[in-house]
Amino acid sequence: MAGKEELSYSEAIAAAGDAFHRFPLIKIQGVPLMCPIVHNWDSIWAFRPDPSDLLIATYPKAGTTWTQEIVDLLLNNGDAEVARRAPTSFRIPFLEMHSPPPVPSGLSLLKKMDPPRVIKTHLPFKLVPEGFWKNKCKAIYVARNAKDNLVSYYHFDRMNLTQPEPGPWDGYIHKFMNGELAWGSWYDHVKGYWEEREKRNILYIFYEDMKENPQREVERIMRYLDLSLADDVISRIVELTSFKTMKENPMANYSFILKPVFDQSISPFMRKGVVGDWTNHFSPAQTQLFDEDYKRKMKDADIPFRTDI
Ligand code: A3P
Repeated sequence: MAGKEELSYSEAIAAAGDAFHRFPLIKIQGVPLMCPIVHNWDSIWAFRPDPSDLLIATYPKAGTTWTQEIVDLLLNNGDAEVARRAPTSFRIPFLEMHSPPPVPSGLSLLKKMDPPRVIKTHLPFKLVPEGFWKNKCKAIYVARNAKDNLVSYYHFDRMNLTQPEPGPWDGYIHKFMNGELAWGSWYDHVKGYWEEREKRNILYIFYEDMKENPQREVERIMRYLDLSLADDVISRIVELTSFKTMKENPMANYSFILKPVFDQSISPFMRKGVVGDWTNHFSPAQTQLFDEDYKRKMKDADIPFRTDI
């Protein structure tokens, strides 16, 4: 957490000012990543977690922030005040994120924290520093159906002024299908963790399940973390992590990240938070094209995605 002598996140972003722009993507092992991440890749790859650290891994826009809030509350016995101690990015650092100084990188925030830490990543399985698996760290992977994930990413790329321009919707669908967006192919991402989930003891959960029955999924995460919380605490966590409550929570709704990084007047970070918004975006022709391509790319994987609940 920022000390008195340190800048708040918003102050640091303001101080970095003009250094922010839509960063080009550069590939590492075929995975496009924002160039500040690539320029710091050696230090990211060299990161050595503690065995007690917990990883939350997702493809961007799959429900990362929601899961971060649930985990933080579970670890703090549902105490809302403790969970409001700092913005999400300070409580649960973003492993690979590097921004222009003086904005702290994920690694610099982690360095200041004692284990056990909770760590966020969007890296595909093959790019996650090996120490996580060597040290048998716990990891939660959250997956969201491709079409809703794509819609959410499209609106995010409109308002996130550090990622490449999304361009028109029709072209964006192709960028997603071709794995050209930041953090690469959704298909490889969800399959990579799925294939490793048993061997690495990864808890693999779905956004749609969380929407359908949040209590069941909060309890699933609780058991994975070897916690046992009272029923009323679970109910409180479900309430505190509802879309409506999180949208109004300044420590969870990314209002602490202002322009020139996020322009929430274009699209709010907490946008809709539903399953099935893809039906408002995809034309019948786009659905057909996408579904045919999806079948080809996912034929070797048996992941139970749902596009409606
Ligand atoms: P939408 O753009 O579809 O609304 P991430 O945290 O991985 O970036 O994912 C962001 C997506 O999760 C956004 O989806 C956001 O609205 C949604 N989200 C965030 N908190 C949520 C919550 N408590 N319940 C449901 N959806 C949530």
